[in-house]
Amino acid sequence: MIFKQLNPGSCKTYLIVDESLSEAILLDPVINHVSMYLSLMKENKYKLTHVIDTHTHADHISACPSLRDATDCEYVMHNLSTSKCVSIKVKNKEIITMMGKSFKIMHTPGHTRDSISLLLDNLFFSGDFLFLEDAGAGRDDLPGGSPEDHYNSLLSIATLDDQVMVYPAHEYRNRKPSTMKIQRLNNPHLKHKTKEDFINYINDLRLGPAAWMKDVLNANYKCSRDPNSAWIPTDLPACEVKGTSNPNEENIDVNYISSSKLFQYLTEKQHITLIDLREKYELKDKLGHLENIIHIPIGQLTDRLEQLSQYEDSNIILLCRSGARATSAAKILFTANFTNIYVLQGGMMDYRLNGF
Ligand SMILES: [Fe+2]
Repeated sequence: MIFKQLNPGSCKTYLIVDESLSEAILLDPVINHVSMYLSLMKENKYKLTHVIDTHTHADHISACPSLRDATDCEYVMHNLSTSKCVSIKVKNKEIITMMGKSFKIMHTPGHTRDSISLLLDNLFFSGDFLFLEDAGAGRDDLPGGSPEDHYNSLLSIATLDDQVMVYPAHEYRNRKPSTMKIQRLNNPHLKHKTKEDFINYINDLRLGPAAWMKDVLNANYKCSRDPNSAWIPTDLPACEVKGTSNPNEENIDVNYISSSKLFQYLTEKQHITLIDLREKYELKDKLGHLENIIHIPIGQLTDRLEQLSQYEDSNIILLCRSGARATSAAKILFTANFTNIYVLQGGMMDYRLNGF
C-alpha cells in the first residue's frame, strides 16, 4: 500500500494506493490541485476508484465533483450531506470496501453535521473532527456545527487504541501526524471531563463571524467545479480558528513597507499604529510580537472597526505571519475609508529573518 499526503498547504489530502490492484483513493482533495491529482493517476497508471470528503468543507472547494466528472470514480460522504453529486452515502459504523480494503466509517459530527472519520487498520482519518495536539479541532460555529455533538463524537473515539495514528484534514503549523496517545495527552479538546465544561471551553473561544466561509460551504453544497466560485483568503488557519468577511475588493492597491523600514520607524519612535492580525496563540510562538501592538485577530476586524476609528488619520502598519492576512486586512480597512495603511511585507517571518 502506498500512503501519502499530497498538498503543500494547510489543507491535507491523503492518497492511498493498492499497488497490486493499481487502484487509488483520495481523501479530501482540493479543487486547486485537480490537474496534479489527475497527472499523478495517469503517470502511475492508477485507477481512481473513490474520492471522499470527510465533511462539507468551509475553507476550500472540494475537488471531488471535478474528479468524479473526470474519472467516473465514486464520491463518498456521510448520508447527512446535502450534496447532489455524492454517489455513495455512508452512515455510522458502516464498513465500506475501497481497493479491497475495509474502512470503518465513524460519524463524528460537531464541526459539521455530516463529519465522518475513517479508520483503516491503525490509520485514523479524522477530518476536522480532531486536529493534532494543541491545534484542538475544527471550529463548531459554522452552519450545522454543534459543540454538544462534538463532545459526544469525542466520547465515541475513547475505544480507539493508543497506537492509532491520527491524520487530520488540516495542519497549520507543520505538526507531524501522531498517535491517539499523544492526542489524549496534549489535545485540549480531549481534556474536558463534562459536556458542560467542553461547551464552555468552545464558547470561550469567541470565534468571530466568517461570512466568506458560508460562501465556500454554499459552493460545496452546489458541487462547484469552479475554483473561483468563492473568495478564500490565503494564509489563514481558517478551520482551526476563524475567518473574516469577504472584502469583495480585488483591485485595491496595497502599500507595503519593508522590515528594515519598520525597524527604522520603531527605532526613531515615529508615531505609527501597529495592528497585529494573528491569532492569540501565534503571538506566543517563536516569532513573538512587537511592543505596543493592537491585537485584532483577522476574523474580528470587521466587528472592531469602530474601535479603530481613533487611528483613522495616523499611519497604520498591519502585521501578520507572512503578510497575507495583513493584505486582506488592508483591503477591509481601505473599504472602510481608512487611508494611511501599510502592510509589513513578508510579515513577522521576514522581520525575524532579517534579524530584527
Ligand atoms: Fe472543515
